[in-house]
Amino acid sequence: MDDMTIITKYGGDIIASSGMQAEKGFMQHGSVTTYDHSMAVTKMCLRLSRGLHIRTDERSLIRGALLHDYYLYDWHAPRDGSDLHAFSHPGKAVRNAARDFGLNEIERDMIRCHMFPLTVRPPRFRESAILCLADKICAFRETWAGLGNRNTVRQDGKEKTR
Ligand SMILES: [Fe+2]
Ligand SMILES: [Fe+2]
Repeated sequence: MDDMTIITKYGGDIIASSGMQAEKGFMQHGSVTTYDHSMAVTKMCLRLSRGLHIRTDERSLIRGALLHDYYLYDWHAPRDGSDLHAFSHPGKAVRNAARDFGLNEIERDMIRCHMFPLTVRPPRFRESAILCLADKICAFRETWAGLGNRNTVRQDGKEKTR
C-alpha cells in the first residue's frame, strides 16, 4: 500500500476534519503550513519505520503523527497569556486531539513527547521515538528551505537567478 493510501485509510477522518483543515491557515516553519508539515512528518514516520524495518502499530503511528501539532493556532501570532510555544504546544495538542478524536496510549505518548529532548519526558513507545526523529528531520528541512528562499531575494527586492 502506498503512503497516501494507508494514511487516508487510517487517518482520513482526521485529514477531513475542520481542525486539520484549519491548519492550512497556520504557518509552521518558513513558508510551510502546519497541515503540510504534519503530512510530511506522517510520511517521514512511515519511511523511517519501513526503511529501518521497525515494527509499529501503523494506525497509531499515522494518527499520532497527523495530530502531533494539533494545537490549533498560528504560533507566530501574539496571544493572550503567551507562553513558550515549544514547551507548551504538545500538551495543548494532546488535549485538542483527545477531545476531537480520542487517543490511545501510543498516540497520546507520541504527541506528548514529540519535542523530546527539549521537553524532559522521554518517548515510551517505538512510534513516539520515530515521530520524534521524523519531526526533527522535517523541521530542519523546512527551516533550511525557508532560509534558501530568503537568500534568493536581493536587497533591492529583485530575485537572484542562482
Ligand atoms: Fe511540534
Ligand atoms: Fe512538528
